[in-house]
Amino acid sequence: MSAHRAYVGLGSNEGDRDQHLRRALERLAAVPGVKVARVSSFVDSELVGDGPPQGRFRNAVAELHTTLPPAALLAVCKALEAEAGRRLPAPRNHPRPLDLDLLFHGDCRLDTRELVLPHARWHEREFVMGPLRELGLDLAALPRQQRPIVLTSPEDLAATCTGWLEGGCLIGLVPTMGSLHRGHQSLVQRARGECDRVVVTIFVNPLQFGPGEDFAAYPRDLETDLARCRDAGADVVFAPATAAMYDPAFCSHVSVGAAAEGMEGALRPGHFSGVATVVARLFVMVRPHRAYFGEKDAQQLAVVRRLARDLGFPLRVVPCPIVREADGLAMSSRNVYLGAADRRASTVLVQALRAAREAFRAGQRDRDRLLQVAAAVLAGEPRAALDYLELRSEGDLEPLPPGPVVGGRLLVAARFRDGARPVRLLDNLSLAADDA
Ligand code: PAF
Repeated sequence: MSAHRAYVGLGSNEGDRDQHLRRALERLAAVPGVKVARVSSFVDSELVGDGPPQGRFRNAVAELHTTLPPAALLAVCKALEAEAGRRLPAPRNHPRPLDLDLLFHGDCRLDTRELVLPHARWHEREFVMGPLRELGLDLAALPRQQRPIVLTSPEDLAATCTGWLEGGCLIGLVPTMGSLHRGHQSLVQRARGECDRVVVTIFVNPLQFGPGEDFAAYPRDLETDLARCRDAGADVVFAPATAAMYDPAFCSHVSVGAAAEGMEGALRPGHFSGVATVVARLFVMVRPHRAYFGEKDAQQLAVVRRLARDLGFPLRVVPCPIVREADGLAMSSRNVYLGAADRRASTVLVQALRAAREAFRAGQRDRDRLLQVAAAVLAGEPRAALDYLELRSEGDLEPLPPGPVVGGRLLVAARFRDGARPVRLLDNLSLAADDA
């Protein structure tokens, strides 16, 4: 078999760092089919990303001439890491005696659970780029993985995901309508921590907007969204045009039953059918193992859970906690439209929910009394026009009968109207929640 030129990044920040690197190079050179052709100087670097406090890394890059295929060379690297005392599977970003990253292997392009070639982030790391430059490589000419990969056609998305599934990857899906804020980013980060590949979809779905609603005016800013997806660790951003999702003859819709009754379902007829239809379509394209939804849209979450169960999608719906501004307002893409006075007034929603939760903690168990506590707080803010305030069961959000409750979720929606355009805000809180 002909020899390929491969590059391996070496790193160590535990024990005798130089000794770990030297030993790894000796051991690599002793592997049949591997010749260590050149090695850069050893350089120091700090940990990239979050991790426990730890010492600086010692890094280098080695150029190998090898007849081993990528998977075999990777296996050698893993064996040397283990031999150096690295505990595998290693917790993310913890100190390690030896880290060997396969950066390039000839012209090979791979995207499997075990190995991505070229390495996905070599061009973001000075401790790799510096040594590569020293070895005389023209960094601009070296191949890169684009992250996130931006796709617009359902066929390309499905093909990319098929490749990942065949490579054994666990896929996480974060469906969004864009205009991403820290709440969305927390979903992407959670998916990043739990999955091998993360797909974020950005699609303002016309099916879930009613005639008088803000479809045309819904905030759209793809460039900023892409930067936020990259920062949060998305592998793919799928941002299709409407025609790519729904061809002109499109006429099949998912109809949602009891989960869509009341609250948003009553105020926005057809909304949850639109949500369920697009989500089902995304599930079919991506075939994710996990799909991440914010608890902020609690009824949507209940609808999607029901959808996954009823239609048998083989995935886990992962609920993610509401992310709030410092003053408690739940983050929402529509918050930008609040006028200054409404923005100040908008915290009344969370204050009302928290007041009812306090009453519950203090021993109040009567459903209507708890609702009255929240309603009294809301009534003190004339800027908030209440759409609904309900106490429902956790999870499925089923209506609770009058009388004593053992727990449940309070849900509220209200309209504000002094900003650039009227804004509806939703919020909810579990009576059992122990957050602030
Ligand atoms: O929550 C949203 O942003 C949307 O309803 C969703 C789930 C992406 C479907 O269009």
